[in-house]
Amino acid sequence: MKRQEIIQMLRPAVIAKILPLCFAGLWLFSINGWAGEMSFNSLQRLIAENKISSIEALLPFLPTSFRSKYALVFRSRSLQESSYQNPRVIIYGNDANFILTFNGSAEQNGFNTLETMEFDEKKREFLFREIAFPGKAGEKISVSNANSERCIRCHGANPRPIWDTHPLWPGSYGERYLDPLSTREQQGIHQFLLNQAKHPRYSYLEYPEIFAKPSTFVPSTKNRYEGNLRQSPNEELSRLLSTLNGKRIVSELRDSPNFWPYRYSILAALDRECDSVTQYLPAFLKQRAASEFSDFSTLAEKKNQEQEQLKRVRAVSLQGQEPVKRDSDLLSLHGLRFLAEYGLGLSTAEWTTALESDTYDFSAPQSMEAEIEAQLLPFVSKGDPSLESLAAVRKVSSSEKYCAYLRRQSEQSLHALSADSFHALKRSSTANVGGKPVLLKRCISCHQGDEGPAIAFDQPVELAASLARGTYPRGTLLAEIEYRLSPKAGADSMPRGLNISSAERSDLEEYFRTLKKLGEEK
Ligand code: HEC
Ligand code: HEC
Repeated sequence: MKRQEIIQMLRPAVIAKILPLCFAGLWLFSINGWAGEMSFNSLQRLIAENKISSIEALLPFLPTSFRSKYALVFRSRSLQESSYQNPRVIIYGNDANFILTFNGSAEQNGFNTLETMEFDEKKREFLFREIAFPGKAGEKISVSNANSERCIRCHGANPRPIWDTHPLWPGSYGERYLDPLSTREQQGIHQFLLNQAKHPRYSYLEYPEIFAKPSTFVPSTKNRYEGNLRQSPNEELSRLLSTLNGKRIVSELRDSPNFWPYRYSILAALDRECDSVTQYLPAFLKQRAASEFSDFSTLAEKKNQEQEQLKRVRAVSLQGQEPVKRDSDLLSLHGLRFLAEYGLGLSTAEWTTALESDTYDFSAPQSMEAEIEAQLLPFVSKGDPSLESLAAVRKVSSSEKYCAYLRRQSEQSLHALSADSFHALKRSSTANVGGKPVLLKRCISCHQGDEGPAIAFDQPVELAASLARGTYPRGTLLAEIEYRLSPKAGADSMPRGLNISSAERSDLEEYFRTLKKLGEEK
């Protein structure tokens, strides 16, 4: 800036113009904090300061930019019911660091609750909370703890967002990436838009009309050429959540006490030009690890195919259509997950955002490998300038030298590893806890009597006695459980909303059968 310009700026008339802007900045900062346009704190403050007691009264106070970015779910699998006309709204704003959801009809479950998700940038974890507004006069607002039992039973113990993977989002308007809305969706959105402007809640949504525009879901060539491609909301939310989820995965890896010796092999797993990860393990382990890795990948592929099928069944716009071949750009991160499970002893069953947990589809609008690598590389190459420069060179030539370097370094840093410790960790990441199948806690969480019928899954003695009794459609409680665990139960199968492996299924069956025998011996 030239001296004259500075003098110009100090003139009273200019200051008079700038000053209000500074105050506006301060004011915005005080509402929103530094974190982004919204946070859970700023939301709570809004509610308290304006004595807000309903969702419709709150919405106009939210920043317009925040209210401009949302997905509309007409067939939600969550605690908030939804329909074509009264969809569940998932507002995610500009960065999805803070998300807020609600639905639109007093007849629907979850009508008085606002569900929120916040990404804690420092701890790199997701926080799920619920604000229940008074349904009747005399009730008070209640705010749940972060990640309460009620939320983690679906979002997981180390909670993750649930958002189907690219390019198919069953039940959310614009189900199929780059496809126009199906006839059913078009009718639905038409109904929704008819009521939207007068609706006590939906009227605060900005730009709802984009949902009726074909170019929102299928960008025209002209739009693409001009580069003003606004992604479909489902796609955009996928991209944002994948970035945050990548951060969560990176921090889980880095926090593992075993990360450091595995750092080079982990980087190799993230570069598609490098050999199979087992080649980065010490020589004495390579052969056995290669065979384990092959089983590991086969099982994961199977799970992913099941997930793909289940997902297709959920998609209304695909009903009656021939199944297409599985997307070739499905990304499963097999190598990375193998090292995480066997080497670091982490469970990766809830790493993806897919609805069906224990599946491994990481497909996203962006490359998850690149996303994870971009965060790990600077950390690992601190104090290793060769790594840094070899990584940079990859961009202009091949990865050959980079991979070769990783291999040498990895063999060296893992030389002290024993075969036993490698496999022991895998066992500990999937082991049954205290003789009970890990999945039992899922049954417990839904069967206390509010979500599903009360069954004493948490009280082995009582459960043992009742397993042989009952007048269920399939006979005794045990017979009903066995049926509900089997694939033939279809949509009625348990645990609801989860896709379990046959090993997990037999673990559960065995547990219930043993318990029944114990009950009879008494
Ligand atoms: C029965 C399973 C289930 C439970 C329990 C559950 N959710 Fe979800 N949640 C979902 C599903 C499924 C989605 C994906 C969108 C949809 O289907 O509506 C989701 C999505 C969300 C989203 C949008 C961001 C994302 O993850 O895609 C928020 C916010 C959210 N849930 C908050 C909560 C909170 C807070 C709780 C606890 C009070 C909770 N959820 C409990 C199933 C559940
Ligand atoms: C996300 C919630 C959820 C989870 C997890 C869950 N259930 Fe259920 N379950 C339900 C609901 C809701 C019903 C009632 C609707 C129905 O009959 O399908 C039900 C019904 C049942 C029934 C039939 C009971 C009756 O009175 O007819 C059995 C048996 C059962 N579940 C067993 C299990 C077992 C075993 C597990 C764990 C492996 C499990 N459930 C996990 C929600 C759940």
